Order: sequence, then C-alpha cells, then structure tokens
Amino acid sequence: MSQPAPRAFVIGWPIAHSRSPLIHTYWLKQLGLAGAYEKIAVVPEGLALFLADFPQLGFVGGNVTLPHKEAAFAQCAQTTPVAEALQAVNTLWTEGGKLCGDNTDVAGFLACLDANAWGWGEACEKAVVLGAGGAARAIVAALISRGVPEITIVNRSEARGEELVALAKRIDPAQKIALSDYASLHHELAKADLLVNTTSLGMQNQPPLIVDLARLPSHAVVADIVYVPLETDLLKAARARGLKASSGLGMLLYQAVPGFERWFGVRPEVTPELYELVARDIRGET
Ligand code: ATR
Repeated sequence: MSQPAPRAFVIGWPIAHSRSPLIHTYWLKQLGLAGAYEKIAVVPEGLALFLADFPQLGFVGGNVTLPHKEAAFAQCAQTTPVAEALQAVNTLWTEGGKLCGDNTDVAGFLACLDANAWGWGEACEKAVVLGAGGAARAIVAALISRGVPEITIVNRSEARGEELVALAKRIDPAQKIALSDYASLHHELAKADLLVNTTSLGMQNQPPLIVDLARLPSHAVVADIVYVPLETDLLKAARARGLKASSGLGMLLYQAVPGFERWFGVRPEVTPELYELVARDIRGET
C-alpha cells in the first residue's frame, strides 16, 4: 500500500504573516516531491492538544513560531543539544510515537553568515550582539559553537542582558562574554569583527536602530535578523562602508533547510530564485 504524501505545518499565534509556507511549497515544487506544508493558527491554550494530536491529523511534523517555542520545547520527549541549550524549539517531528524537537535558528544563522561572508569565523576575535531576547539566545549559542573568543551583549534592559550572559556561561563556562550598554557601543565597535542586530529596532513600524558604524574595522561583518524591510538601514550603512552584510531573510531561508529535509527526505537549496520569491512577497509585489 502506498504511503500518503507527507504533510508538515507551521504553528504560531498569530501566524497569518508567516513566509514558511511560501518557502517549503517552493521547494516541494522545485524538487517535484509530493507533500504539503500548511499554516495553522494555534492559540497558547490549544498548543498541548495540537502537539499531542498532530500525527493523528496526518502531519509528520512542522515548525513552531512565536509564542510557542518554549512551551513546545517543554512538551518534547527528546530534543537536540542545541534546543536543550536554548530551552526552545522551532522544528518538530516524531520518532517511535515520541515528540522530538530541534532549534534550527542556530544553524540557519551560521549557514547564512557562511554564505554571505565566507571565512568570517577565522577572523572573528570579538562579536557585538545587540539585544538579549529569544533571537539573541540563538545567535550567542551560534557564536559559541564556532569558537568566537569574545562576545559583548549590548541591551537596553540589564536584567535581560545578565540572563543571556548566564545562558552563555551554561553552554561554555570558559566563554568570555560581557554586558555593555548603548552609550558605550561606539567603544565596543572599534574592536568588533562582527556586529549582529537581534532587536526589533529597524523593523517596519518599530523605532529606528541608530548605530554609527564609522568605528567598525574595515574587515568587519554586519548581520541583521530583521527582514522587513529586506535591507535595513543598518545593512545599508554597512554596505555603504564596503563591509560585508548578512540579511535577516537569508537566515529565515537557511533555518528552514533542516526541517524540510527531515519531513520530506531531501536536503533543499537556498537559491537566488527562492530569495527573490520571498523578497517579492515581503515587498508586497505578489
Ligand atoms: P525576540 O524573541 O524576537 O528576540 P524579544 O524577546 O521581544 O524578541 O526581544 C527583543 C529585543 O529587542 C530585546 O533585547 C529588547 O530589549 P530589552 O531586553 O531591553 O526589552 C530589544 N528592544 C526592543 N525594543 C527596543 C528599544 N526601543 N530599544 C532598545 N532595545 C529594544
């Protein structure tokens, strides 16, 4: 008897603006695979039931987005070491009837940076990370995994910054990591090889991110996780200075790769055509 075509989901609340269906549906079509990827709105009170029921609903697994990443982690029977470190998952599947979870934001960020600034890691003695929320946790874990010797967190709330420093120390007690503030940012940038914005500043309908990149060394790399707009003022300023820049949309595309491979059995590629497809959607051109 033939198996039904695999179906995967993305769950979140709200979920209307998720670009994940566009990405996975493109890959299914490009690779000529039978399968489906569906957007499902799940309210926080409905999460436990959905996670228990999705195999019976015919799903092989799926993505988890805000605000469910931590609650879904708590419900997993098995998680990868990276999900364990972050206490959050964005990718789910089942094995032997057990709920399993991974966090592919870390691999997505690194793959994107590798694609945009190949070799960045060898030259990176110090990284400055703006923000200390959920996205910053993934970025810091990624930098530690690549052995970046020194990390400085710059955050508005000191308490949240301290929590991120503590998380980094749990991952690697020997990691050199410090907390700073926006008033001292220009000093920090003078020695930074990599600057990453993980805050919502610079996003459409959010306050601007005001950072003077003049002090950054000329070999520095600048990454932004914001992808609406596609090219933030931070990335524009970096390119204007001739620095390498890594976009938030790239990270979104690369974080989708491991999930697709797990559910549909083929490792897909992030192509310029896919980037343009999603970019057109973000620009409202589709
Ligand atoms: P995510 O999980 O997507 O990272 P988040 O947890 O809400 O989102 O974190 C957003 C980050 O943007 C935080 O570091 C936040 O700083 P605080 O920890 O001080 O709240 C930062 N952020 C948001 N608005 C900001 C603003 N106006 N100025 C400075 N930082 C801001």
